[in-house]
Amino acid sequence: MCGIVGYIGSRQAQDVLISGLARLEYRGYDSAGVAVADGGQVVVKKKAGKLANLSGELEQQPLPGTLGIGHTRWATHGLPNDTNAHPHATEDGRLVIIHNGIIENYLSLKAGLIERGHTFQSETDSEVLAHLIEEAYAGDLEAAVRAALAQVRGAYGIVVTHVDHREIVAARTVSPLVMGVGEGEMFLASDVPALLPYTRDMVFLHDGDMVVLHDDGYRITDLQGNPQERPIDRIDWDAEAAEKGGYDSYMLKEIYEQPAALTNTLMGRLHDDTGEVNLDISLDPTAFKRISVIACGTAYYAGLVGEYLIEQLARIPVEVDVASEYRYRNPLVSEHTLAIVVSQSGETIDTLEALREAKKGGAKTLGIINAKGSSMTRELDDTLYIHAGPEIGVASTKAYTSMVGAFVLLALWLGRARGTLTDAQAQELLRATRELPRLVEEALNPARVAEIKRVAEKYAQARDYLFLGRGVNAPTAFEGALKLKEISYIHAEAYAAGEMKHGPIALIDANLPVVVVATESHLLEKTISNVQEVRARSGKVIALLSDGDTENAAHADDVLYVPRAHEMVSPVVNAVALQLLAYFTATYLGKDVDKPRNLAKSVTVE
Ligand code: AGP
Repeated sequence: MCGIVGYIGSRQAQDVLISGLARLEYRGYDSAGVAVADGGQVVVKKKAGKLANLSGELEQQPLPGTLGIGHTRWATHGLPNDTNAHPHATEDGRLVIIHNGIIENYLSLKAGLIERGHTFQSETDSEVLAHLIEEAYAGDLEAAVRAALAQVRGAYGIVVTHVDHREIVAARTVSPLVMGVGEGEMFLASDVPALLPYTRDMVFLHDGDMVVLHDDGYRITDLQGNPQERPIDRIDWDAEAAEKGGYDSYMLKEIYEQPAALTNTLMGRLHDDTGEVNLDISLDPTAFKRISVIACGTAYYAGLVGEYLIEQLARIPVEVDVASEYRYRNPLVSEHTLAIVVSQSGETIDTLEALREAKKGGAKTLGIINAKGSSMTRELDDTLYIHAGPEIGVASTKAYTSMVGAFVLLALWLGRARGTLTDAQAQELLRATRELPRLVEEALNPARVAEIKRVAEKYAQARDYLFLGRGVNAPTAFEGALKLKEISYIHAEAYAAGEMKHGPIALIDANLPVVVVATESHLLEKTISNVQEVRARSGKVIALLSDGDTENAAHADDVLYVPRAHEMVSPVVNAVALQLLAYFTATYLGKDVDKPRNLAKSVTVE
């Protein structure tokens, strides 16, 4: 899940590459490198560590040239160091490649190449590609790349250039690759944000596509050489959307973008007058008997909220699975199953493969997805876009609340269509849903944020945290714990509050902060009795309470008041306080919240 960029045109390639990599660094930041062609040579410069290490050196010694390729790495094979950094060049330096993905049969290919006299510089699987292309090269770069790719198994987004050719050759299978169409210049990248400053005309390459870029155009074929037509999509995100907009980090910016993101998620889908929800999908809401929700990480927790809502409002049995398990457990799936995959990036490989597994079993498929043109959207029967805009921070925030918002819409839509929701119930929930952007705006008011910051800093030295929630807010506790783990590296566990006394209660002592989601709900009393159990073991209770709930404040060491919301939509509002708790804890501990260690934004390898 590296970030790759390519450019051919009249600008200084180095500038396009570095600005593109800066917008892709969320995909991996173990090392970075560029290769720039200038007349009779291709010069490679690469550095371990964050992009700043490389760009600092390039400021001292710029690489002139108007054709180049660049890479930011998330290490899979070989340590993060200068040698294993991409680009990888052949010994004579005439051919250079960058790669995103994993070559599964690289060891056997490498052994064969060494036997045939090739010398390897790095420990990476990717370098094998450079040698295979070199071996097949007889003056036609495209043909050589095609011959090399015919030998490899695995995932790749590969970009290649050769000193003798004013062209860039690229190909993708599994790993994402998008092309940007300019006036007299062409661009390539793993993801749209890298190209937005230069063009909004994008061509999303499909699995098995190869493309040759020249200054004035491109040609797409499949791996057998047959011409392929791909549409040019005009992206409605602007470059500004991919900038920090004056915030310290993308994560904080995206937390504050949630009211606008939710407004977009609900846009044109709620009809207060008729009490109807209109989802721009063609799915027949009565054509299935059970639902499988499949996702990873934060998207999985949104799925758990979705399960609760759909079962409550539409009375359809729902199962929720982590994708990496679903795809290998030979799931019970049939034409009576609706498989819903949830993903911000639309590229997470476990979820993509789980989608293929569900399709194999005959399921109808629906995606709750953010990234337009992503791989999953091309294989789904239907996609309910969440329209949250680009999410750059590795820790997902606005995509989560918009995913949950989309599940509220879906549960309402199914409930209406299957007659399990009365007009009055639908009206009540529609009003509550329409309130969400305002309630989230309110959850972000400075006084609340200051209080969350105070509480976060008070407990920032804690070694462990416990998060508890019940009912529709049990997943809120899971998401809160994940956010804290991801960016502060503090060990955090989450449990359905009623489950605590069956084991985790043993963890509680005076050093353990316990966050309890105890907002207005039919389970509040039960939740407060769990708070008592924690207090009885001297645990430090941080309670999320609904505005005005002064009675239960007495049971907590610290209270974070959140705007009062309808129980069914409260997970959206409650998540904001937990995102900020994690954010302020991590910044207090000096962590890089946008690029937390060991993580990457979209996980495109197994
Ligand atoms: C969340 O903050 C993480 N970045 C991660 O758990 C993420 O939710 C997971 O990798 C799924 O990504 P997706 O939504 O792009 O499929």
